[in-house]
Amino acid sequence: MRKISTLIAILTLSWVGLAQADDIEDGARLYTEKLCLTCHGEQGEKPIMPVYPKLGGQNADYALEQMKDIKSGARSNGQSAAMKAIVAAVTDDELAKIAKYLEAQTPAAVAADTATADGAAADGAATDGATATQ
Ligand code: HEC
Repeated sequence: MRKISTLIAILTLSWVGLAQADDIEDGARLYTEKLCLTCHGEQGEKPIMPVYPKLGGQNADYALEQMKDIKSGARSNGQSAAMKAIVAAVTDDELAKIAKYLEAQTPAAVAADTATADGAAADGAATDGATATQ
C-alpha cells in the first residue's frame, strides 16, 4: 500500500513538473509573440526605457496581478498606458504562462553584473563585480 501511494505521489509530482515546464515554454513563446520583449528586453532583464520595469525573476503571482490590473485599468500609473494596449490582446491564461516564464528568468541585478554601468557589455565586468562583493 505504501509503495502504491509513493508511486502515485511520484507520478503526480512529475506530471505537475511537466505541466510547469510546458507553461514556461509557452510563456517564452508568448512573451516574444505578444511583443513584450520590445519594451522589457529579451528576458525581461533590460527595458528600453529606464523608467520601464525589469521583469526577470519577478514573482509570478505578483506579475500576473499587475498585468491583470493594468489590463482592467485598476492600475493606472503614468506609465501604464504604454502597456495597456498590448495586454488588451492577451488572455489571462496567456498572461499566467508569461508570468511563470518571467519568474524563471535571471533577475536584472544579477544580469547587470555582466555589464558596465552604461549598459554596454564588458569583458571581466562579472569578475570585477564578484571581487567587489568579497
Ligand atoms: C510599449 C511598451 C510595453 C510593452 C510592449 C509591454 N509592456 Fe509591460 N510595462 C510597460 C510599462 C511602461 C510598465 C510600467 C507600468 C506602470 O508604471 O504602471 C509595464 C509593466 C509591466 C508589468 C508590471 C511590473 C511590476 O513590477 O509591477 C509586467 C508584469 C509587465 N509589464 C509585463 C508585460 C508583458 C507580459 C508584456 C507582453 C504581453 C508587456 N509587459 C508588454 C511597458 C510595456
